[in-house]
Amino acid sequence: VASNSGTRDLALEVLEQLDQNPSLKTDEAFPDVSQPEIKATLDRLSSRYMIKYETNDTEQVILTEEGTMIAREGSHEYKVWDAVKKQGQIEIKQLPSIVGDLTAKVGQGNAFKARWVKKDGNNLVPVADTVQDIAQQKLAKIQETKTVEDPKELKELQKRKLVSIVKIITYTVNKGPKYAKEIPVEVTDLTADMLASGAWETANFKPYNFNAQGASQNAGALHPLNKVRTEFRNLFFNQGFVEMPTDKFVESGFWNFDALFVPQQHPARDMQDTFFISDPPKADRPREDPSAEKAMNEMEAGARKLYATKEQSTIKPRDYNQYFNDIKAVHQEGKFGSIGYRYDWSEDECLKLVLRTHTTASSTWALHRLAENPRPARYFSIDRVFRNETVDATHLAEFHQIEGVIADFGLTLGGLMRFLEDFYSKLGIENLRFKPAYNPYTEPSMEIFGYHIGLAKWVEIGNSGMFRPEMLEPMGLPKDMRVYGFGLSLERPTMIKYGVNNIRELLGHKVDLNFIENNEAVRLDKN
Ligand code: PHE
Repeated sequence: VASNSGTRDLALEVLEQLDQNPSLKTDEAFPDVSQPEIKATLDRLSSRYMIKYETNDTEQVILTEEGTMIAREGSHEYKVWDAVKKQGQIEIKQLPSIVGDLTAKVGQGNAFKARWVKKDGNNLVPVADTVQDIAQQKLAKIQETKTVEDPKELKELQKRKLVSIVKIITYTVNKGPKYAKEIPVEVTDLTADMLASGAWETANFKPYNFNAQGASQNAGALHPLNKVRTEFRNLFFNQGFVEMPTDKFVESGFWNFDALFVPQQHPARDMQDTFFISDPPKADRPREDPSAEKAMNEMEAGARKLYATKEQSTIKPRDYNQYFNDIKAVHQEGKFGSIGYRYDWSEDECLKLVLRTHTTASSTWALHRLAENPRPARYFSIDRVFRNETVDATHLAEFHQIEGVIADFGLTLGGLMRFLEDFYSKLGIENLRFKPAYNPYTEPSMEIFGYHIGLAKWVEIGNSGMFRPEMLEPMGLPKDMRVYGFGLSLERPTMIKYGVNNIRELLGHKVDLNFIENNEAVRLDKN
């Protein structure tokens, strides 16, 4: 039995009281204990079937401050009469200073009406010799009984702000089937020893309390960006896309720029826009990459399953020397029907290492592998990119791009527009508008604007185009193969989805972990 001296054991007191009386009312038995405290005790005992209890929800009439004063000192009219009686007469002007403002104001009229006092010139004089202060008597009785029989009278008293009604919860407690004067020791765990000794048969097990709240689970939570990423991945998978490997944050200029026909003087290749890596000072020329082989093979196996295309036997060997020289040629003097940019192309510039500025570097790599076995293909990726940009509310130096490429024979720009309309409609974005734009690696290029139904406004939601022959033909892709590309940031739809206005609330050290833990599962507003 847990009862330590000094602290009061309410449970024990309840059990003791029930030993004397079969039924008790908590407001009478424990007038000084708060309702939540007594309820906790009763719940504890009733979960062990030691008691049963019922909740009584009653209303009580209690006196306001003014009502209490009247019950104690008499009504205002009584006080007026009493003062006049004692002094024989009182000048009306003097009354407030004798009985107080409120009493003078309220009590004078009532005392006239009751014919306890009357006017005599400028004075008040008594009429009655003795009076019955009924108002005071009524309130004193209410104070004792906490009820008013007549509802009309109750309304009137409430209106005069003499009484108010309070809800009172009390409990009626009776003995339960397992009643005892003390709480027996309870066993919480079934042990091997108890099984061996047979003690389990007579042990008094503590019953489960199914009303108890479970302990809060310190579980992990997915970041909102990851949730939106999952949605996009499913969107791509459902449309026959295969995920590209994107595990290289560091790329050579070749894969990030040159192979995409981005000229070496392009502003995007400036230190202002791109993070360059100083150590190691330069990359290898493009070559076989054993580390990427496994990921690529898995991807191609997936693609083969989807498109039922030909196996190894038709695969052309890659010739990286040829590829490298063709890229140089297509920039410097032109090739594949292009007149090129006509500048002195620098191998050093091409082999600088950079933090990739777009996932199109990964798409380029995947497309050059497609040239081994050219066939219709749909690839996508969602991963991190880096730009040396001024950080503000909507820009960070690193963010995520969602990118898709579609390769096929006989593709047209109209087909790209149709595809994008379809794709974005699945995100709840309708009525796309296309704006001619410029990318060194696509022609034509289009910025994508969409009317966001949820936000009710036009938002820029992507960039797209058809990859240039200067990029595709050096890879060895057939002349009549066309490739669509499109990209958007992962952050933008995430910020829209979660109503985040400052990107720093989504990424970085200012992120509120509660927001991450508690935000809802994402469902993009699909059609
Ligand atoms: N790389 C482009 C960007 O960073 C997106 C894009 C991808 C555009 C593919 C056209 C084709 O914005």
